[in-house]
Amino acid sequence: MSNLSEAELIHKFKGIPFTIQSSPELLKSLDTFDAREDDVLLVSYPKSGTHWLAGVITKLYNAQITLTSPIEYGDISRLEELNKVSSKRIIPTHLDYNMLPPNFKNKNCKMIYISRNPKDTAVSMFHYYRDNPNLPTVDTWTSFFDLFLKGEVVFGSWFDHFLSWEEHANDKNILFLFYEDMKKDLPKIVKEITLFLGLDVDENDIQDICKKSSFSEMKSDTENVNSDPSHTVCALTSDRKLIFRKGTVGDWKNHFTPKQNRRFEEIFNEKMKLSKM
Ligand code: A3P
Repeated sequence: MSNLSEAELIHKFKGIPFTIQSSPELLKSLDTFDAREDDVLLVSYPKSGTHWLAGVITKLYNAQITLTSPIEYGDISRLEELNKVSSKRIIPTHLDYNMLPPNFKNKNCKMIYISRNPKDTAVSMFHYYRDNPNLPTVDTWTSFFDLFLKGEVVFGSWFDHFLSWEEHANDKNILFLFYEDMKKDLPKIVKEITLFLGLDVDENDIQDICKKSSFSEMKSDTENVNSDPSHTVCALTSDRKLIFRKGTVGDWKNHFTPKQNRRFEEIFNEKMKLSKM
């Protein structure tokens, strides 16, 4: 919830709403961003489990790595800062495939896309809008539900975002993951990630990493005085306390009316008719 108006908080770039945290100059210069072959991109639509995935991945490496702030976060000076990172970079982003700096594609960088049931994503985003001073005020769930379906929220339409990445789901350098699968069997997904990244992590370490990446552990880590309050994995906040809300599957059932559910399903079926998922 913010005291600022929507016009003061949001601007559009190539038709997609961004917060003023992503400056237009930065977004314009992304096309010239210099990727490195060993960069790993962590891609998601907001509220799909980005911090969770980042928490897992950063624990998998023995060598020095840097989890950077999202590529679309900040002003033009961010690109220079990213260039200066000397270790291997793990770079989060909420950009859709078409807006991704072409250099990441040309250099076949590894990319991990995490997706989540859009109904739960919508609910998570609704609460985030309410708590986050960088986002416009939304009065009710009903009004947010309409905005979400129209794609009039930050980073645009969930459907467009998902479809833009799904088209590349079978590319060798892209791993597609689902939040719900991580909830169901985290060790299995962590093994999939290690294989994809070419890392050798033994079974005990995988079990340990999964324990340390549970919702309760990650939430209490954030409350720990030692965690860096300025570090951001999502381009919408640097306040990690806003991230760990409930961490469950199916919270949408506590918010959607039967009528909203029917409308959502209709739009979902229409928009996703070309999807293979
Ligand atoms: P809820 O709002 O439904 O609780 P992102 O990191 O992309 O912003 O996504 C945030 C969502 O992921 C929040 O969902 C948050 O609670 C959930 N989340 C974060 N860490 C998690 C974990 N370790 N296990 C399960 N869910 C987690």
